[in-house]
Amino acid sequence: MDILLASDVIQARIREVAAEIERDHPGDEEIHLVCVLKGGFMFMADLIRHMSPRVTLDFIAVSSYAKGTKSSGEVRMLKDLDSGLEGRNVVIVEDIVDTGLTLTYLQDILRARSPKSLRTACLLNKPSRRQVDVDVKYIGFTIEDHFVVGYGLDYAEKYRNLDHIAVLNGDDE
Ligand code: IMP
Ligand code: MG
Repeated sequence: MDILLASDVIQARIREVAAEIERDHPGDEEIHLVCVLKGGFMFMADLIRHMSPRVTLDFIAVSSYAKGTKSSGEVRMLKDLDSGLEGRNVVIVEDIVDTGLTLTYLQDILRARSPKSLRTACLLNKPSRRQVDVDVKYIGFTIEDHFVVGYGLDYAEKYRNLDHIAVLNGDDE
């Protein structure tokens, strides 16, 4: 595996993203982070360490229907949030935006719960594969069309524990 983003590079950028999120939420209102499991867990864990004590968090898990077939954009809810979003400042925390279908679905269902604001933070952005235009306010890194693993991202549930992002080659599988 080739290292694409080393741990120190990721950590430095996450500090900046945390500062951007804080800046966009002036005052002392709560910032409610919604982590998209499983891939978003490490990004969220590091992000909140650089944020003020007004941060609260929750988790949601979704999975795409019939991977590999022509995607309908339909996504299945595996685990819903524990609490409602009405009137809250919500930031979705996701590992990567690829086709954009997962995030579009998530934004639609969360917006329907009447948050005061709804923004999205993605560690990685792969614009070359986008199928739907989706608004992502905070992007850690924009990358080429590689299949990447590590720092929360998996291949067949493996490599999520790496502290860096690596490109998976054919031999690694
Ligand atoms: P989208 O609906 O195509 O934007 O799907 C995004 C989801 O696909 C992410 O949340 C990841 O779980 C997964 N994914 C997309 N690209 C990669 C990758 O390069 N490595 C690992 N998972 C990926
Ligand atoms: Mg994911």
